[in-house]
Amino acid sequence: MLVRQIPTGGDRNFAYLVADGSTRRAVVIDPSYTPGRVVQAAREEGLTIARALCTHDHHDHTNGNAEFERLTGVRPLLFGDTDPETGRRVEDGASFPLGELAIRILHTPGHTSDSICLHVGDAVFTGDTLFVGKVGGTDLGDGARAEYTSLHRKLLTLPEETRVFPGHDVGVAPESTIRRERETNPFLLRPDYESFVELKRNWAAYKKEHGIA
Ligand SMILES: [Fe+2]
Repeated sequence: MLVRQIPTGGDRNFAYLVADGSTRRAVVIDPSYTPGRVVQAAREEGLTIARALCTHDHHDHTNGNAEFERLTGVRPLLFGDTDPETGRRVEDGASFPLGELAIRILHTPGHTSDSICLHVGDAVFTGDTLFVGKVGGTDLGDGARAEYTSLHRKLLTLPEETRVFPGHDVGVAPESTIRRERETNPFLLRPDYESFVELKRNWAAYKKEHGIA
């Protein structure tokens, strides 16, 4: 499996090009600010872009979608959309073929109600649900509660060695693993929802105290 992490500008957004090494079929995730660069990267690698998905409907992740479709003929799909090729809906547990691999959709509401993570091979693309050492922004009520559940039920249940590729380069490293996040991410170390949301409430002070940018 091939993974290219492509910085696209914006708020240090990442686009991803993920391909099955044998069939050279690729999925693009969050083309965002530089769809042309993503298409160029696919060309350099000799890949065919078979499909595209966005992790959620926020402008910084979707603003390149029209241009991406113009360049490739592939419309990026969001949660709830129906894939024209397979007739399958983008919903929790749905699976889309990618050559000899599959893209499995994990619905992870919290940051937004339409947030999804994409599990492909030994990697998970977490959008704005999980960052390296941080988690996605939410309100301190229903959003935080939904995110807590999504993180624990959908992401921390993945194999420990799963590589984590976030939607923004806002952490201590551009990528991580489920094990490393479980062991070091202060939000995931919180033992229950109450202390999780308390860390959200006090995040500015916590960052200052621990020298986190
Ligand atoms: Fe977002």
